[in-house]
Amino acid sequence: MKIAVFAGDGIGPEVTREAVRVLKALGLNDLELVEGDVGGAAWRKHGHPLPPQTLEIARSADAILFGAVGDFECDRLERHLRPEQAILGLRKELGLFANLRPAKLFKGLEDSSALRPEVASAIDLLIVRELNGDVYFGEKGTKVLPDGRRQGWDMMSYAEDEVRRIAHVAFKAAQGRRKLLCSVDKANVLETSQLWRDVVIEVAADYPDVALSHMYVDNAAMQLVRNPGQFDVIVTGNLFGDILSDQASMCVGSIGLLASAALAEGTMGLYEPIHGSAPDIAGQDKANPLACILSAAMLLRHSFGLEAPAARIEAAVAKALADGIRGGDLGGHLGTVAIGEGVLARL
Ligand code: IPM
Ligand code: MG
Repeated sequence: MKIAVFAGDGIGPEVTREAVRVLKALGLNDLELVEGDVGGAAWRKHGHPLPPQTLEIARSADAILFGAVGDFECDRLERHLRPEQAILGLRKELGLFANLRPAKLFKGLEDSSALRPEVASAIDLLIVRELNGDVYFGEKGTKVLPDGRRQGWDMMSYAEDEVRRIAHVAFKAAQGRRKLLCSVDKANVLETSQLWRDVVIEVAADYPDVALSHMYVDNAAMQLVRNPGQFDVIVTGNLFGDILSDQASMCVGSIGLLASAALAEGTMGLYEPIHGSAPDIAGQDKANPLACILSAAMLLRHSFGLEAPAARIEAAVAKALADGIRGGDLGGHLGTVAIGEGVLARL
């Protein structure tokens, strides 16, 4: 089990440290951890946010545990040198096209949600976000128009095979859950979305046991706070999925709780908390490590088929939260290390 650990920037190193402690505590056989530099940290050391040696480690690993990238000091760099290119580059280079972002309310956090407790309690959903296409990876640029005005542009597109493969992932995920799939698009305005919708409907023929519905993204954003309990699996494109998953995180209490898996065909996967590098609290023992710890659980489940230890981590996190192990993001006062210890103690 060779796991690449890419801690990255800001709070990345602190939260991955706790997740690694949890992984080591499980007493798994053949666990090999290899560290690599990504993001602003890699740019400082090697002049590139995703240096070749890091990519090599990634390719030789069975799975990747990723912290976070992002650094204000790098915001004015040319785009290809910015920290975010590390995660975008890994997603693209390794074909990590399927992003699973589960959101479920943990018992005891009913009052931490931005929603009313009775609304929040019903949340148990999975966002399946396409990760290799859309406006994220289209041609882009800036130019000066003939009349002197500056213009920025980004091309949004999806090819049918890209939609088809993410749709299959989503339908299969729904089969293992409540068998409801909602495809989110903006087909009333965008051609990209119309094709998306048409292809999802075609794929649905293979999954007669799953009830498929469609929702425009603006309505989905509204429904996610009005009645999130209606959703089981949501499948959507890269940009809409980015936005809706941040929104879902506040519905369950804190962005510090949401884990994610970015999967390729086969068993390779990159696992990361959905939160960013939070440079404002970096190095202060203030970050919530639970999203990263839960990402480690997803790693064991999806890349190694180790359901039992994955469930063990998730149960320990649930128990810790129920016992009041909380940091500032959830109205508590515990630091990153103490929260990690709270989980370890319950493992
Ligand atoms: C995420 C992040 C990334 C994204 C950034 C860091 C490029 O927001 O994983 O949700 O937009 O995909
Ligand atoms: Mg995001």
